[in-house]
Amino acid sequence: MDVIPQGAAIDSVEPIPNDDRIDLHPGVVDLWCFFYEERDEGALKTAYESLMTSAERRRCDRFRFEKDRRMFRATRALVRTVLTRYQNVAPADWQFDEGEYGKPYISGPAAAPKLSVNLTNTKGLVVCAVSAPGGELGVDAENLTRTSDTIAIADRFFSASEVRALHAQPEHKQQERFFTYWTLKESYIKARGMGLAIPLGQFSFLVDDGDRIGIAFDPRLEDDPSRWQFAWMRADPHFVIAVGADVSPHPMRLRFRKVIPLADEVMK
Ligand SMILES: CC(C)(COP(=O)(O)OP(=O)(O)OC[C@H]1O[C@@H](n2cnc3c(N)ncnc32)[C@H](O)[C@@H]1OP(=O)(O)O)[C@@H](O)C(=O)NCCC(=O)NCCS
Repeated sequence: MDVIPQGAAIDSVEPIPNDDRIDLHPGVVDLWCFFYEERDEGALKTAYESLMTSAERRRCDRFRFEKDRRMFRATRALVRTVLTRYQNVAPADWQFDEGEYGKPYISGPAAAPKLSVNLTNTKGLVVCAVSAPGGELGVDAENLTRTSDTIAIADRFFSASEVRALHAQPEHKQQERFFTYWTLKESYIKARGMGLAIPLGQFSFLVDDGDRIGIAFDPRLEDDPSRWQFAWMRADPHFVIAVGADVSPHPMRLRFRKVIPLADEVMK
């Protein structure tokens, strides 16, 4: 499937193959989902800690609440074990560095191809997106049960056309549509790697009930809509995930797999 229908359940997306070494053809974007609260962490906790660098352990220890430390461990374990599915590199041997605005990228081992990777975490779900080296890639997930005054946030931060489109929705659909726009906007700023240095009102998503999602840019952003492809989907049923990728000229092809990092190794 080259284009995923907007809002489809993620389980309906083509699966990531269960091969020993997974191929990543141009245009393919793999989404690895870890619903880390579905079971007790138990013995996995030690296994996850053993994969962390000392800097990661220090960062983990700085979280005040155990729920945040658990999410952090889940994220580290997911990205390391996922990358090992593509390359003959042990999970603990992957090295990461950060761009100017904090976007992590693969910095080692030297011989390993620098796959595009982006992570998102929300209460209950961590997602690792991976595509072939070179293209910009961003992913965002949100928990739909999160309560906030969504319309007021949209009025304040979204572009004028997005605000109009959101208000035009029937009231019972506004909450989900808000999260659709929110995650899409995050997927774009995360793909660009610049965080809120990109003003949220300077780009607009066009979301209708068709197959494609459009983006339009204020000239000040100096970006070209034709290089971007986006998708959004529902997962399990409280989560929205959006992904944005510059994989042009190839059509984006999404694949998905639900995983529990190191479950097989620890349960042996
Ligand atoms: C990182 C950022 C881009 C997104 O943060 P977030 O939505 O809270 O967090 P997510 O869970 O989606 O992503 C966090 C992960 O993104 C990655 N990340 C960090 N900085 C990043 C950046 N500049 N660009 C892309 N990815 C980044 C990291 O892997 C991070 O997880 P980790 O610290 O455990 O490794 C944040 O700096 C930001 O600017 N948020 C904007 C919030 C906002 O107001 N959004 C409005 C949308 S309408």
